[in-house]
Amino acid sequence: MTELPGVPAFGAPRKRLLIRTWGCQMNVYDSGRMAELLSPLGYAATERAEEADMVILNTCHIREKAAEKVFSDLGRLREVKRERTAAGKGMVIAVAGCVAQAEGAEITARAPWVDIVLGPQTYHRLPEMVARASRAAGAVIETEFPAEDKFDHLPEARSAQGVTAFLTIQEGCDKFCAFCVVPYTRGAEFSRPAAAVLAEARRLVALGAREIALLGQNVNAWHGEGPDGTTWNLARLLCALAEIPGLARLRYTTSHPRDMDAALIAAHGAIPALMPFLHLPVQSGSDRVLAAMNRGHRAEDFLRIADALRESRPDIALSSDFIAGHPGETAADHRATLALIERVGFAQAFSFKYSTRPGTPAASLPNQVPETVKDTRLAEIQALLRDQQDAFNRSRVGLTCEVLFTGPGRHPGQVAGRSPWLQPVHLSGSATLTGELRPVRILAAHPNSLSGVIADSEPVPANQPGPTHEETAAA
Ligand code: 5AD
Ligand code: SF4
Repeated sequence: MTELPGVPAFGAPRKRLLIRTWGCQMNVYDSGRMAELLSPLGYAATERAEEADMVILNTCHIREKAAEKVFSDLGRLREVKRERTAAGKGMVIAVAGCVAQAEGAEITARAPWVDIVLGPQTYHRLPEMVARASRAAGAVIETEFPAEDKFDHLPEARSAQGVTAFLTIQEGCDKFCAFCVVPYTRGAEFSRPAAAVLAEARRLVALGAREIALLGQNVNAWHGEGPDGTTWNLARLLCALAEIPGLARLRYTTSHPRDMDAALIAAHGAIPALMPFLHLPVQSGSDRVLAAMNRGHRAEDFLRIADALRESRPDIALSSDFIAGHPGETAADHRATLALIERVGFAQAFSFKYSTRPGTPAASLPNQVPETVKDTRLAEIQALLRDQQDAFNRSRVGLTCEVLFTGPGRHPGQVAGRSPWLQPVHLSGSATLTGELRPVRILAAHPNSLSGVIADSEPVPANQPGPTHEETAAA
């Protein structure tokens, strides 16, 4: 048996990791990798079980009675874990290696104090498993991930919450996409109670908001106890929010395809205030890559959702996120992404070159894609998305749609607002229109905005569908 020193974490280590390794050089190598994988979660090596926040037994099956030795070690660790738990410190125990592979079920049955059993094929998922086990034990994981990752953010709540207000209803993520830091940096999924959301929405409307964008890293996973005592989903919450007098528009972002349930899809057809625009990241069009990403959905699931949304709300426009060059992505996988984009047709989208986040499972996947290949693939994705965005903007020319005015335009004498599909709209007019909804005839499309003229002088009352839906659906 070898006691492995592991890899020290940056800065002051907050957690201690003990790895006991039996057997061959392969196991010694794997133990080093596991220590490296856990370093961004704040774990540094210790040799003493008493001070270990986590113990990994990396086992070997070659010798006779190997399993029995593991069980006797686990018996001793049970006592240490009990003492640490009584002292409020806890301990995550993991069994890895060949014994875990061969006798996983028996370990779970005979030693239920073991938190994680993992075979050599799943080592890259160790950060996810540790995060889940720590959460299950009620522990908060403080990570070594950069505090402000560029992918770890929600749209900023503007300080002066004006005509369009942002309202955070959900935080955190339990999805553990292989490339993403959010589940480690933002912690477990949490939904704010419906009553608190409704009260804040009413307050925002009283302060002048006419549009509310609900925010959350996994906003459509929102669920909570409603004022009627039943459990509400996002569709139900949106119905209640749409009743607030004076609130004309509702949006929500960012969603996950897995949580796009039938009720939410139906809500898009049933709630006129819910704007016909949805940001729904798909990341890739290849089932192989989606599996490597741990997304929990296939390309065809996304296509089905897109079709169902369009059936529910024919004028809905879709947006998404794409990653070019995720580890393992082949030229055929990349073509599948382009094919998905062609098939769906997006009004706008964000696309990123895969960038390694040390400590996330994808960082240690084999077959990392060379930078130059990622560049080419990203450029192809962006060219296609750009064409689709241009075509979508052009398709609005000649339509009359409702615009919510948000403030003065870029040039003197101009006022700016948003179309139902989130496009900025500029026109000549007074900034006193701010806060009003008016039908606007779109005269021209620009790369990132539209321009037009007010089509009639009567303001559209809040909570009325206005001319938008029927007109645009018919157009
Ligand atoms: N590399 C590239 N893109 C990433 N995103 C998140 N993590 C990474 C990463 N490591 C993208 C995803 C996500 C968006 C917010 O950022 O597309 O949906
Ligand atoms: Fe990150 Fe979004 Fe995946 Fe959660 S669902 S892990 S936030 S990409």
